[in-house]
Amino acid sequence: MRHLISLRETSVADILHILDTATSFKEILARPVKKVPTLRGRAMITLFYENSTRTRTSFEMAAKIMSAEAINIAVAQSSVAKGESLKDTLLTLQSLKADCIVIRHHASGAAQFAADHLGIPIINAGDGRHEHPTQALLDMLTIRQHKGDIRGLTVAIVGDIHHSRVARSNIWGLTKMGANVHLIGPRTLLPNSGEQFPVKVFDNLQQGLEGADVVNVLRLQTERMEKGLLPSNREYSRLFGISVRSLKWAKPDALILHPGPMNRGVEISAEVADGEHGIHSAIEEQVTNGVAVRMAALYLLMGTQGSPTQEG
Ligand code: NCD
Repeated sequence: MRHLISLRETSVADILHILDTATSFKEILARPVKKVPTLRGRAMITLFYENSTRTRTSFEMAAKIMSAEAINIAVAQSSVAKGESLKDTLLTLQSLKADCIVIRHHASGAAQFAADHLGIPIINAGDGRHEHPTQALLDMLTIRQHKGDIRGLTVAIVGDIHHSRVARSNIWGLTKMGANVHLIGPRTLLPNSGEQFPVKVFDNLQQGLEGADVVNVLRLQTERMEKGLLPSNREYSRLFGISVRSLKWAKPDALILHPGPMNRGVEISAEVADGEHGIHSAIEEQVTNGVAVRMAALYLLMGTQGSPTQEG
């Protein structure tokens, strides 16, 4: 593995290797002193052209726990604002001797572009509506922890599939691992017919949730949406919102995931998000697993010196 750009292009063996490595790293997160020397002397630079709370911070936490330098570029305050191209910005970061670049960009294909032009590992932290591999990996890690083997599970992905990179990475990752994937949403937010996914597609929530072991709920990505795709948030919520009422259509022990940020009361009710009434919400656990998955990705791409769990 030289880069982590898309799960479509990642082998089952590599997915398993990342998940197993992340599982072994989780123990470090429970220690009172969360620090191992594994990536000492390495430098990760994050370059985010889009907003982020969880993803950027968890990459920074992951790097710091492993003793790597973590440098975050604030794009709005960088030379990008002076008109510097993506290519020149990337070449500059490489010349500054970054050992790995984590990039989030509004253009689908930006991470591959970086990988094509640089000689250092690139991690895709979300490119347009294309892919967000570390998010799907942390989703799969969370599913594995609750349900064991992913093979044979039915995973429903609900909401704005069309604009979601999280959905695309989940579709490729989960189907490779042997899950049955249901995509559920209003017709205007489902993938185009040109996108050939090995999944079942539903524009009816009740039908799509039937038999679901896992329900992964997506935000309406209004920042990537043309106007007129939805009558109103209220209408959307009534027909596709995950609530205590609609969740009855899934299996009784269904696991609830959401990549965040959530819009409570739109795609998910507060009761479901907070795991009330015995609902199995793993949304906070996903965030913690995100640190472990990013530790694994950085470790596997940036270097393998020393024992990964050795204390510093
Ligand atoms: C997602 C993203 O940026 O694609 N968020 C995340 O990384 N946790 C999903 C979203 O923005 O809704």
